[in-house]
Amino acid sequence: MNVLVKKFRIKSFKEKKPIIELQNLSITYGNRQIVEKLNLSIQKNEVSGLLGPNGAGKSSIYHSIIGLVKPTFGKIFIDGKDATDIPTHIRCSKFGISWVPQYGGSWADLSVYDNLMAIAEIHIKNREERLLKINNLIRKFELQNVIKLKSKFLSGGQVRKLTLAMAMVKDTKILILDEPFAALDPQSVRMIQQIIVSLQMFEKISVSISDHSSRDLLNTVDSAMVLTEGKIVAKGTPQELIKNTKAIEAYFGEGFTI
Ligand SMILES: Nc1ncnc2c1ncn2[C@@H]1O[C@H](COP(=O)(O)OP(=O)(O)OP(=O)(O)O)[C@@H](O)[C@H]1O
Ligand SMILES: [Mg+2]
Repeated sequence: MNVLVKKFRIKSFKEKKPIIELQNLSITYGNRQIVEKLNLSIQKNEVSGLLGPNGAGKSSIYHSIIGLVKPTFGKIFIDGKDATDIPTHIRCSKFGISWVPQYGGSWADLSVYDNLMAIAEIHIKNREERLLKINNLIRKFELQNVIKLKSKFLSGGQVRKLTLAMAMVKDTKILILDEPFAALDPQSVRMIQQIIVSLQMFEKISVSISDHSSRDLLNTVDSAMVLTEGKIVAKGTPQELIKNTKAIEAYFGEGFTI
């Protein structure tokens, strides 16, 4: 897998073009400023990582990108268009954004199959195509044994797989993954890494991942940035980042290797 990633990294870096650009973005909850005048770019067709300590503002940034949180200041450009005031449902369909939230993301009282079907009924008109897509996703994410189980009874890792599968029901151009590796066993992490890389390679999807499984994240991404107290303190390729003193100080700690 790493060979696959490295090979593609060289190619993807040739065509730098932002798919998401945050300009002077500020996010405030009540009177608490979480993000202040942040400038951040996610490049087209790149897998990029967003790292930072708990409470740094990573999920809040994702929420502002999809429109769940309204910035108090600044602009959000998606694929070159000002999307700051576009409502979430229009924004996600217009720009082909899929988001896997850090928590939840499925209907607790629906079975695995019905969760997938609920999304598929919105996005895939043709019945045969819908069934084919769902069955492929169930196989891909190894959910065969739990298709009838309500989502509230799934294990932590199974919920992750279900929400990732749900995000892949529709054709996506931008995939935002908030802690996709949380609660996954090592083989499942590898499976998700492979899915992400193949989406990048074969479907030209741009991906942003936030996760505290830093090694797993850095082994998946082309580049990453470290955010602390709502500000980017370091960015670069995984190899550059782990040597960056600011990134070590703010996030990795001494002696971190990948
Ligand atoms: N809806 C909200 N109302 C008030 N405060 C909030 C809200 N959402 C987030 N916060 C606060 O904003 C800060 C950033 O939270 P956020 O969830 O964006 O962090 P994060 O970087 O994703 O952290 P983690 O790594 O723990 O997931 C935290 O201090 C959090 O308590
Ligand atoms: Mg978070």
